[in-house]
Amino acid sequence: MSSPEPTSPETPRLLRALAGETLERPPIWFMRQAGRSLPEYRELRTRAKDFIAFCHDPEMAAEATLQPMRRFPLDAAIVFADILLIPRALGQEVWFEAGEGPRLGPLPEIAALEREIEASTGRLSSIGETLSRVRGELEPERALIGFAGAPWTVATYMIEGKGSNREAARTFAYQNPEVLDALLEVLVESTARYLVMQARAGAQALKIFESWAEQLAEDVFERIVIQPHRRIVERVRAAGVTVPFIGFPRGAGALVDNYAAGVPVEGVALDTQASAEQGRRLQRNGKCIQGALDNLLLRAGGPALDARVEQILEQWEGGPHIFNLGHGVMPDTPIAHIARVVERVTGKKVAAEMAA
Ligand code: CP3
Repeated sequence: MSSPEPTSPETPRLLRALAGETLERPPIWFMRQAGRSLPEYRELRTRAKDFIAFCHDPEMAAEATLQPMRRFPLDAAIVFADILLIPRALGQEVWFEAGEGPRLGPLPEIAALEREIEASTGRLSSIGETLSRVRGELEPERALIGFAGAPWTVATYMIEGKGSNREAARTFAYQNPEVLDALLEVLVESTARYLVMQARAGAQALKIFESWAEQLAEDVFERIVIQPHRRIVERVRAAGVTVPFIGFPRGAGALVDNYAAGVPVEGVALDTQASAEQGRRLQRNGKCIQGALDNLLLRAGGPALDARVEQILEQWEGGPHIFNLGHGVMPDTPIAHIARVVERVTGKKVAAEMAA
């Protein structure tokens, strides 16, 4: 499906790919490009009270969003925020333990969450301000991406209270199907409103991160991944927003085809194990594909990285493609490895002082 927005040669490369164009070279950006792999991010981070305060400070968050754009000739920026800002805006306690990751307080009653849906978008207005600031500073040929976590992935954190193997969340889903469905519906509604706000504030594409789409049987995947994603896209479209969507059902395996057939997204982000043929099949079915480079290979570097970059470029050159990773940049990834891949894909030189 192509974007309703018409494109021209001045349209940012990322948006041309998402509109279904096959380009002479793919646009490139990296999942989790803003963050701990950059020393200037780590320096900025020391100035914030905590990670959540950082995300809600438009000046600092805009700076973090722009840092990788200054270093590398990337085709898109992704707003600096987090998928766990939504549960916090809905009234669940969320904090980040240094070196351990996210922690959440007890899951509120569904009725209590429902009462907060309307107010939640206003509590996230600082992210809209970050987007407007970044859009004002970014060159017109570079696109700005907004995002949210997908309902099931966010629900796993809300149910378990931390990052985990999601066994407790899956068990909860089987034992309390009505509660889970009601929770997913709260998240569909609050997320759709949040994404509408982001598009109005300057996001030119919207990404839905379903980081934990793995290990779900086909019918469960349909109910807790495909249907909620579909309802989000439909609600955002019903609000008059026409920007393209990228869906990232990480770990879906063969069910990626079900996802692409069932969710009206323009782009599908593929994880590390996606096959060349799976990607080509999606391209033939009208989707722009993104991803698949192993984030550990980016960190490892060397001839294996160079070879895989060539392979990805070649295997997907026949259709719309966005060059990206299969998951986020690891914090200890050498900057020289990122610079090398960006140079290869864009044909542009990264200044020496920016590549180390
Ligand atoms: O991509 C970007 O550069 C934009 C910013 C961004 C962050 N988180 C900043 C962040 C994005 C797009 C996310 C998405 C996110 N957050 C996901 C989905 C993508 C994925 O990786 O699967 C998930 C599952 C989260 C939840 C989350 N936030 C976890 C599990 C953690 C701790 C561990 C980790 O991966 O860092 C965070 C913290 C977080 N989010 C940091 C950053 C820069 C590190 C916090 C710090 O600087 O102290």
